[in-house]
Amino acid sequence: MPRGRVAPGARPSGRRRSDAALLFGLLPVLLGLAGCSGEQSALAPAGEEAGQVAMLFWLMVAGATLIWLLMVGVTVYAARIRPGRHSEVVARRLLIIGGIVFPTTALAVLLAYGLSLMPDFRAPGDGLRIHVSGEQWWWRVAYDPGRGAVAVPTANEVRLPVGQRVEVLLSSPDVIHSFWIPSIAGKVDMIPGRTTRLVLEPTETGEFRGVCAEYCGTSHALMAFKVVVMEEAAFADWLAHQAAPAREAPGGRAEEGAKLFRTTGCGGCHAVRGTAARGVIGPDLTHLASRESLAAGILPMTAEALHDWIARTQEVKPDALMPSFGALPEADLDAIVAYLGSLT
Ligand code: CUA
Repeated sequence: MPRGRVAPGARPSGRRRSDAALLFGLLPVLLGLAGCSGEQSALAPAGEEAGQVAMLFWLMVAGATLIWLLMVGVTVYAARIRPGRHSEVVARRLLIIGGIVFPTTALAVLLAYGLSLMPDFRAPGDGLRIHVSGEQWWWRVAYDPGRGAVAVPTANEVRLPVGQRVEVLLSSPDVIHSFWIPSIAGKVDMIPGRTTRLVLEPTETGEFRGVCAEYCGTSHALMAFKVVVMEEAAFADWLAHQAAPAREAPGGRAEEGAKLFRTTGCGGCHAVRGTAARGVIGPDLTHLASRESLAAGILPMTAEALHDWIARTQEVKPDALMPSFGALPEADLDAIVAYLGSLT
């Protein structure tokens, strides 16, 4: 075969190398795009505020891309197309336009647009109000129906009616956390000694994920929550159910578990409304089994996960305030799990 020819079927190694380079270059882009959808993405907005944040992001991306292209164009023009010296007057004018006027104008426009979004974030909601407190490492949630009605406590799950403005009042008893549902709104810090506010308005029904966006200690990364956006009627039914006291244990193992729950002292930290358990240190468990996840969004709501959580708490969530109860006899653990599973 003559030199320089490539055997049929074979590809030039240069082409193979450039394919590999292209793939390598595209990989970060593809990985980045993989984060643009899903239940926890600020770039797949399902709320008014998240929509504004996403719009601001895309505008800044577009602006930065345009400016980058402009700079590359000017550089190529000056280096290749029309190289040469400029007079001092022209050079000074270019410096003033390119170095002062252009960046000041571009940044002022961006700042004005960013500030124009601010009032919406702070507008008070005139409907539902929810208090959320960041605990170590879970979320204390209380629905305030207004008009003097008693607040409805729950934990680690936030349900919202679609299309309604909801005011979320945020606090923390000890360290700073940050409340963030990327698909629905921006993040707001929860600061000890202060109450901060977030107004949000979900625009789509569905399930989303919220997270703590501020490092708050050992199990910061294990502090998430489920967000369920529901139709208004379904939400009203859910809230009415959450306001009701716990179901009576349905007999058998669950009833045995209810007794063990009392005698083991679980009620010292947890409340089960309608029973003698009135603790306020840990999450309210009145309708625990109606939630979709356990231990602040890190375990599924199943009997196995409940068992695992109670027996190995400190391994599942290091430094949580609840000790592991793995020393309890297996039969007792199973009974307590059956009782908790009955709290729908
Ligand atoms: Cu709470 Cu990080």
